[in-house]
Amino acid sequence: MAKAARFVCSSCAAVTSKWAGRCEACGEWNSIVEEAPLSSGPGKAALGARRGKGIALGDLASTEAPPPRTLCGLGELDRVLGGGLVEGSALLVGGDPGIGKSTLLLQAAARFAQAGLDVMYISGEEAAAQVRMRARRLGLADAPVRLGAETDLRNILTTLDAERPALTVIDSIQTMWSDGVESAPGSVSQVRAAAHELTRFAKSRNVSVVLVGHVTKEGQIAGPRVVEHMVDTVLYFEGERGHPFRILRAVKNRFGPADEIGVFEMTGAGLAEVSNPSALFLSERGTPSPGSVVFAGIEGTRPVLVEVQALVAPSPHSQARRTVVGWDGGRLAMILAVLEARCGIPFAGLDVYLNIAGGLKISEPAADLAVAAALLSAREDAALPPETVVFGEISLSGALRPAPQTENRLKEAQKLGFTSAIAPAGGKIGAQSTMSLLRPADLTGFVGEVFGAG
Ligand code: TYD
Ligand code: MG
Repeated sequence: MAKAARFVCSSCAAVTSKWAGRCEACGEWNSIVEEAPLSSGPGKAALGARRGKGIALGDLASTEAPPPRTLCGLGELDRVLGGGLVEGSALLVGGDPGIGKSTLLLQAAARFAQAGLDVMYISGEEAAAQVRMRARRLGLADAPVRLGAETDLRNILTTLDAERPALTVIDSIQTMWSDGVESAPGSVSQVRAAAHELTRFAKSRNVSVVLVGHVTKEGQIAGPRVVEHMVDTVLYFEGERGHPFRILRAVKNRFGPADEIGVFEMTGAGLAEVSNPSALFLSERGTPSPGSVVFAGIEGTRPVLVEVQALVAPSPHSQARRTVVGWDGGRLAMILAVLEARCGIPFAGLDVYLNIAGGLKISEPAADLAVAAALLSAREDAALPPETVVFGEISLSGALRPAPQTENRLKEAQKLGFTSAIAPAGGKIGAQSTMSLLRPADLTGFVGEVFGAG
């Protein structure tokens, strides 16, 4: 019997029975590719015929010590990992091509090696000479990292089995290929098979493996999302072209908090840690101007101050533009709708641009009020009072909800020289806070108090 063709989205790995120009699951265009039918694994008949053996069962109480962790000394990376690298863990580091993944992992590999781990760096993308050149540029040529250039998974697994390094970096998973899989290198099947073999190896030998994955825009190469479910920890390396800031974000972590971020700056000599990101994100801020608002946010376990910029202008088009960078477009539409419905402030016929400065991507609902403030400030052409931070969540009714960790946000703002805050009523304020507070109950109250009658 001929097997039916299978189609897979190379961005999110959704499976469909027919080709489509756009993936229904993730919305990506041109990402659906045909995949060879799965030939491995037992068929129905085989499953019925083969009798498995019973598995060993135990209780939940454990007597084992938690797995050991190793700190590499790059504080930003150690924190994102949840307090260092866990022995025997599988990690995925995803990001756009050219964002600095290879640089980050070479630096991390060198640090872990200097911290005493046996580290191997397998480059499938660049020749060994190129990696050595980068190492020299980064001043890491003397680090005791073992370097190999290879793409054949079988050779890599054989080497790893013989050498048993404590940590192996595979750069990148898309270049690896296994002769047991019929499709081309980079395809969903190849990438999955390679990731599966490598993570299984990591688990069975209790060694750590880091997989590098490029975020891809073309359908022929599978993206890192297709292997996210196989690994313990998923980190994404983000940043804007033209900005030196890079953010390493934990989107999944079996050994630590998700949503933790580490902030780096790309310099001529590699990535430098940024231990005070607020100061960095606010460093580009000029004098207070209409449309600019400082949001006191929380990223992971840390408060981060960042500037929200809005521009509102009469639209020459029949349909006004809504452009967002660093925040959610749907959330912007919601804030605009609430401003119109609850406060009677229309944005129809006005183009709206919203930008989070410094290349940070914000997903916290607590940014709502800062966004609304920036939009109103731009629309009314009136700057907010100087040295003021804003945070709070807006509900569809126009009510304001206090944000978690109010105290930490205020502390960070005070530390950076801010003197006042606009935040919803409720939420604990520290006793030592000298910030002057404006605490509106709802959005209408906020508009009235900050922008006059509105
Ligand atoms: P790279 O780590 O190769 O990115 P990726 O592996 O994610 O594709 O880094 C690419 C960019 O980083 C490249 O454009 C040059 C820049 N870069 C620096 O600015 N400073 C440095 O020290 C290094 C090594 C790279
Ligand atoms: Mg690279």
